[in-house]
Amino acid sequence: MDAIGGDRRYAVPVGFGMAVSMWAVAYVCRLPAVMAPPWIVLVLLLAAVAWWGISVGRWTGDGWLAGARAGLVAAILNLLILGSLLTSAESGAVMPSAALWLPGFVVVLAGLAAVASMVGSRHPDAGGGRSWTGLFAKIAVLATFLLVVAGGLVTSNEAGLAVVDWPNTFGSNMFLFPLARMTGGIYYEHAHRLFGALVGLTTIGLAIRVWRVDGRAWVRRAATAAVVLVVLQGVLGGLRVTGGFTLSTSEADMAPSVVLAVAHGVLGQLFLAVVVGIMVVSTTTWIEAPARERRASAGADHSLQAWLVAILVVQLVLGAVQRHTAQGLIVHISLAAVVVVVAAFAGARAWGLYHGVRPVQQLGQWLMSVIAVQVALGIAALAVTQGRAVVGAPTTLEVTIATAHQATGALLLGLAVALALWTRRILEAEAG
Ligand code: HEM
Repeated sequence: MDAIGGDRRYAVPVGFGMAVSMWAVAYVCRLPAVMAPPWIVLVLLLAAVAWWGISVGRWTGDGWLAGARAGLVAAILNLLILGSLLTSAESGAVMPSAALWLPGFVVVLAGLAAVASMVGSRHPDAGGGRSWTGLFAKIAVLATFLLVVAGGLVTSNEAGLAVVDWPNTFGSNMFLFPLARMTGGIYYEHAHRLFGALVGLTTIGLAIRVWRVDGRAWVRRAATAAVVLVVLQGVLGGLRVTGGFTLSTSEADMAPSVVLAVAHGVLGQLFLAVVVGIMVVSTTTWIEAPARERRASAGADHSLQAWLVAILVVQLVLGAVQRHTAQGLIVHISLAAVVVVVAAFAGARAWGLYHGVRPVQQLGQWLMSVIAVQVALGIAALAVTQGRAVVGAPTTLEVTIATAHQATGALLLGLAVALALWTRRILEAEAG
């Protein structure tokens, strides 16, 4: 059984959750526009560890052991960025003290999580019914969404080529590139690559879990497809920079590709939609939802939602073309009018016609709200970029609005896919 009280294999999903939260804190705090003081970063990192530690203690009632296990997984994942802190900015060599820091970090993190989970275990959550696969998939969605935002920040800051080579970073192993040298555009681009590695591992971990615990062949196929997509996405991102497979660090040997930049931008959002799909079908709400009564409108609504997904995909391709080539704005704006009408109509029907089917109603509400936000962001993006002087780096306002517009587009696609899946479930329940 894939729930509390049954399946005890919670350490990996919870450990990934802890690591993703810590990476998110570190990423945001180190953004050039934020640069939070180290003590704030430390407090937030400790808060993330404490939250996951206490939660896993409450969810499992396993005392300190639950936190120690999850903390160990998170610590191992964190080693991927710890190397950046333990290399010399001048020589790029790993400092000798790393031999103490690395095991020390693992022990301290696992220990802190163990103490937190001991505290959480004192008040066990009797609710039960949590799907660890569902939790894992939610973490994968969150991590991917953050990565889509981080990717948007790379494009918006025109930092796509700030690091000349790939898979190395300026000739050094990407996991050992010194933090002190991650400044300006290099930070956006390099941090995006590191986050990509974490999302890749999260996707592989999720797929392994799905294959082990989920008997549904189509969910297993979707999880495998997600792994294939994430690998392809990483390679596309790299080839966008280098144009071919080379370990050279000379710009003269590179052939950066705008076509691949567009393809990478689009695939990133399609990948998010696939992970959202896996999340939807792995939640306890989906698994335990009773067979629905007949809904005469479900067939028509499912077609409408399928159309919405298709139009959104075309729209996000146009958006990526616009962002990378500054072409096709008129077509993008014209199709936006169609997207708004279809999304608002599909959202209103889902909200108004499916009383008693909470997920469908909620997704309908979300769709209507998010499409309104997206229209506002589109208008704002147009206003700030049209009035912009052609030369000079983009301002923080331009970067923020353009990235938010792109990320909200990805969110809309995810919502539309989730809604279409739920409506399909109603149709299947009718057929069965
Ligand atoms: C593994 C999952 C990954 C996802 C989901 C992802 C997603 C994205 C997204 C959504 C964008 C924004 C595109 C746009 O604004 O149109 C982006 C930009 C970018 N990504 Fe990734 N990415 C991933 C991995 C990587 C990796 C491993 C690299 C390695 C170099 C990479 C390199 C880039 C570059 C260079 C850009 C900026 C393109 C430009 O502005 O020219 N990405 N990514």
